[in-house]
Amino acid sequence: MHTVLVGVSSGIAAFKVISLVKSLKKRGYNVIVIMTEHAKKMISEKEFEKASGNKVVSELFPKGFDYKRVLKERKVKHISLADMASVIIVVPATANIIAKIANGVADDILTTTILASKAELLVCPSMNVNMWNNKRTQENISKLRNKGIFFFGPEKGKLACGYDGEGRLADINKIEDEIVKLVEKRNELKGKKIIVTAGGTEEEIDKVRVITNRSSGKMGIRIAEECVKRGAKVTLIRSRTDIEPTVSLDDIKVRSAKEMYGEIKKRINKNGIMIHAAAVSDFRVKNKIESKIRSDKGITLELIPNIKIIDKIKKMKKDVFLVGFKAEYNVSEKELKRKSVYIINKAGADMVVANDVGKNNVFGSDYNEILIVDNKGKAKKINRAEKRIIAERIVDEIVKRV
Ligand SMILES: Cc1cc2nc3c(=O)[nH]c(=O)nc-3n(C[C@H](O)[C@H](O)[C@H](O)COP(=O)(O)O)c2cc1C
Repeated sequence: MHTVLVGVSSGIAAFKVISLVKSLKKRGYNVIVIMTEHAKKMISEKEFEKASGNKVVSELFPKGFDYKRVLKERKVKHISLADMASVIIVVPATANIIAKIANGVADDILTTTILASKAELLVCPSMNVNMWNNKRTQENISKLRNKGIFFFGPEKGKLACGYDGEGRLADINKIEDEIVKLVEKRNELKGKKIIVTAGGTEEEIDKVRVITNRSSGKMGIRIAEECVKRGAKVTLIRSRTDIEPTVSLDDIKVRSAKEMYGEIKKRINKNGIMIHAAAVSDFRVKNKIESKIRSDKGITLELIPNIKIIDKIKKMKKDVFLVGFKAEYNVSEKELKRKSVYIINKAGADMVVANDVGKNNVFGSDYNEILIVDNKGKAKKINRAEKRIIAERIVDEIVKRV
């Protein structure tokens, strides 16, 4: 059973959340309401207890708190709540709670649980139009959006304070749909085992120098995280990356293409999906030197084509769902598609994600723009968005096909 934590802060729209809690419970979710101290002044806990069938949580230190019991039982309320949550929703979200979450403040049970949880967080703001438009509120919101926090609403309309403008809590039925989407997404890849590769491989010139590329590994890591969030068991095989994954997965670190291939080979038979987002160096040094090359005179390196990992995958496991990546430099969309189809045919890939690293300054960036091409030649363009959002779209397309 999915546990949905509903955080209620002290917006005037809090009363609307009672029907939302009832509906979520009817859907079979375990709904636990966490209220801020101010929210309890707005509306009685009893109303939410009746709607959810669960006790409302509102105190970080409950009455009779005894640290000795905590140490004996190893159970802390906000951590248990954080761990059991499938999703957390803050509705209505006051300007205050948004500011606190954006800055990592944890001064009550709601903000502390949010900080401790790895669950998806959906924030549904509702406030006076001037509070909403205030630069500080907007800065807090962009900060959270960039960290992958979902927002829904507010809408424009008549506000409780008498103003007309943006700030009304979004339609409660639409909020419910968003919650259901987030919860259901968590099962989409349940039982699936996936290998994701990421990062730029390093090929030795000598014992201190390497040939590599400008890949940051962000795209692959975001995809791996998205697969974990949807219930898959993920093995991430990565060479040099600029970021660390934020979810728990099997994290294998390699350097060269050869090492990456070796790790894939060991595991491919136990996995049903392979997403090969790593930027494998196309060349390696023919005669690498087993010491440090002296730097007092110039040298000539002979580069030879490196192992093409993608071409080996289907030969190792015929029925693995293979997603390849293609990076091109300043080409047309037609050309991008043509190159993707070429990989599909050559490697037997089921899907190729292509991007133009020349146009969008993709390497190292948090943004990307891609073309997804499948083995039936169908292409779908995903416009420029954060790599986290692009990862969601890519995984959406994989989910439809596995
Ligand atoms: C009657 C009343 C209505 C309020 N409505 C809102 C609101 O809709 N949105 C909001 O951001 N703050 C609203 N506030 C202000 C918050 O309650 C206040 O900022 C509070 O400190 C927020 O605490 P909390 O985020 O811990 O619940 C309201 C205050 C009062 C007294």
